[in-house]
Amino acid sequence: MTESKKLFIKTYGCQMNVYDSERMGDAMGASGYETVDSPEAADMILLNTCHIREKAAEKVYSELGRYKGLKADNPDLKIGVAGCVAQAEGEEIIRRQPMVDVVVGPQAYHRLPDMLAKVKNGGHAIDTDFPEEDKFTKLPRGPKAKRAPSAFLTVQEGCDKFCAFCVVPYTRGAEVSRPPERLLAEARDLIERGVAEINLLGQNVNAYEAEGWSLARLIREMAKLDGLERIRFTTSHPNDMGDDLIEAFGEVEKLMPYLHLPVQSGSDKVLKAMNRKHTAESYLKVLERIRAARPDIALSGDFIVGFPGEEEADFQATLDLCKEVRYAAAYSFKYSPRPGTPAADRSHVDEAVKGERLQRLQTLLTEHQWDFQQSMVGKTLPVLLERAGRDEGQMMGKSPFLHAVHLQADAAMAGQIKNVKILHSERNSLAGELVD
Ligand code: SAH
Ligand code: SF4
Ligand code: F3S
Repeated sequence: MTESKKLFIKTYGCQMNVYDSERMGDAMGASGYETVDSPEAADMILLNTCHIREKAAEKVYSELGRYKGLKADNPDLKIGVAGCVAQAEGEEIIRRQPMVDVVVGPQAYHRLPDMLAKVKNGGHAIDTDFPEEDKFTKLPRGPKAKRAPSAFLTVQEGCDKFCAFCVVPYTRGAEVSRPPERLLAEARDLIERGVAEINLLGQNVNAYEAEGWSLARLIREMAKLDGLERIRFTTSHPNDMGDDLIEAFGEVEKLMPYLHLPVQSGSDKVLKAMNRKHTAESYLKVLERIRAARPDIALSGDFIVGFPGEEEADFQATLDLCKEVRYAAAYSFKYSPRPGTPAADRSHVDEAVKGERLQRLQTLLTEHQWDFQQSMVGKTLPVLLERAGRDEGQMMGKSPFLHAVHLQADAAMAGQIKNVKILHSERNSLAGELVD
């Protein structure tokens, strides 16, 4: 038997990239590659990249710089760049780093084995098409390896919303939803491999629509699968929160009480300039409907501070909105101008002002997150035990509200849902103990 080749994949960016990397690893497995966790041991290095903010893209080039020595030592080493930087920069990547062999955009991964065959004896291959065929159907499946108890499953890709700051519609293309029967088959396969929780992914996951199915219908059908205990979905857009999806929160027991619903800003003037197509009030109305259906729901959001034209009063409106919602968790960023997006050419808020606003916002959001965590202390929560924890005999699990929970438990209990009494709250996690 020939020795298998070694593939090292490094993943940046969102959960969809995590899912894609897993699928690429699987597909390369069918071509004789085994994944390893260090670049030094690899015959092929694949960076699955993110273009969302400037820093994310720059990280890729500095990482590539680090591989120069490896390539000098081993001229047979192949280096590939996949993901959103690949899509956005294409040939430019090879111009900046000629040692890169393959550049492959997010919709062309199924062509990766062919591209590698092409560059076997030198040269470059670039593919940033948006082909008609579904890459996931074409991606071969590797052996049925056991999986961690919680898995991602991409159901929808791309975005038609064109927020003025965002590269996603350009790097991922138009909204496309995968056929429901294939998703149910993939869910069954994941369950067979030990998965108890599925997180349905899409850049606009609640815009899912295929063969007349909405996301709510997909969730209801998936909830019927034996062995699947929990369902989550992310990321949603406020304008696509349909009544059926909101009702599902109240009716589908396996659908967890957690919703990531980014608003970006609390100022209508800024929301309009961002092309978000909703107001602060319409967003709050959506939350009201969701809370009526599922009163204990934990909410999370994304915020951008220092968007072009944002003044102190606009920023105050964002703080006010946060005080009203009291997010269980939230992600906030300084606006980063992205080439090719409408807002990139506008006049920018001073960097120091951005930094100061970000700090004020994060202080408030952290306070709310802390209060929410504290409110769990003394409660008993069903926790999905996922993996070994930091210390001997410890396990990490997840609460229904997506808190990381650590506790003393036997590693063999991975995949089970157990009642855990929450003892105290730490910075970004909860500590608890098994009940009974
Ligand atoms: N599809 C999702 C996620 C998009 S990217 C959505 O619509 O919410 C994740 C987050 O990155 C966004 O919600 C936004 O807060 C942030 N983001 C996107 N572009 C950005 C930019 N140019 N500068 C700073 N933050 C940005
Ligand atoms: Fe980007 Fe807006 Fe689409 Fe989200 S909805 S991916 S922020 S363009
Ligand atoms: Fe980044 Fe692309 Fe995801 S830009 S956030 S990896 S869709």
